[in-house]
Amino acid sequence: MATRSRWQAFTRAWICGSSTEPPRISACGDATNLSVLTKVKVPSWCATIAVITLCLLPLAQLAFQLAFEDLGPDPAKLLMQSTGEWGLRGLAIVLLAAPLAQRGWRGLFRYRRVLGLSLFFYVSLHFLLFAQVYVDWSGALLVEELKERPYVLVGFSAWLALLPLTLTSTDRSRRALGRRWRQLHRLIYPATVLAWLHLFWLARSDLGEALVYGLAFAALLLWRFRRAQLRPR
Ligand code: HEM
Repeated sequence: MATRSRWQAFTRAWICGSSTEPPRISACGDATNLSVLTKVKVPSWCATIAVITLCLLPLAQLAFQLAFEDLGPDPAKLLMQSTGEWGLRGLAIVLLAAPLAQRGWRGLFRYRRVLGLSLFFYVSLHFLLFAQVYVDWSGALLVEELKERPYVLVGFSAWLALLPLTLTSTDRSRRALGRRWRQLHRLIYPATVLAWLHLFWLARSDLGEALVYGLAFAALLLWRFRRAQLRPR
């Protein structure tokens, strides 16, 4: 028993600073066990910075690999694949936010704007790499690629569909657009389908990844569709 209360006091001191000091965090007041940890309030700006930092980790890893020439025999290909992959993962995470929120976990939902902007950031990086490596910043060559390669056309269309969502992601745009904001943001659905088609076209013989994303996206879009149908008009 003595050991238990010493342990509790230690936990309290660790969280609150000192067991004799008045608690610096209000959640520590009456708590005598570890459940206080779940009640500690993290300021929202701290959490936002943590989420932004997490979103920038893949970029930091790529920059690190680039700086130390650790991108393998074909750096451009690896950069294209990695930025494209993070775009797809971002789409899946953003689409997952609403179903998770409905089941009581609002963590992702609270940060969906940061997550959406990060996803667009990685897809735009992917596009900029394409502009540099494949078409050398030539508009004419880009048009030619769009005409000749259907997977480039669908990838580009997905990026175009995501563009207005990014441009109207501010609170001001949301207020200005009113109901139309929600309608406009449904562009995430065609963008997801186009992004998946892009992956499917590129998959060639290895269809495993395309299949996994296809099933995940289908389930998430179906959930959204059913929810929209159940919503009272
Ligand atoms: C939402 C938009 C997009 C997503 C999610 C996306 C995703 C991806 C992914 C995951 C890959 C790697 C596929 C693999 O090799 O297994 C890839 C490759 C590629 N993407 Fe995209 N992409 C998008 C937009 C674009 C755009 C706008 C362009 C160019 C206009 C583009 C051009 C390419 C090219 C050329 C490759 C082949 C890279 C290579 O293997 O050398 N993508 N994309």
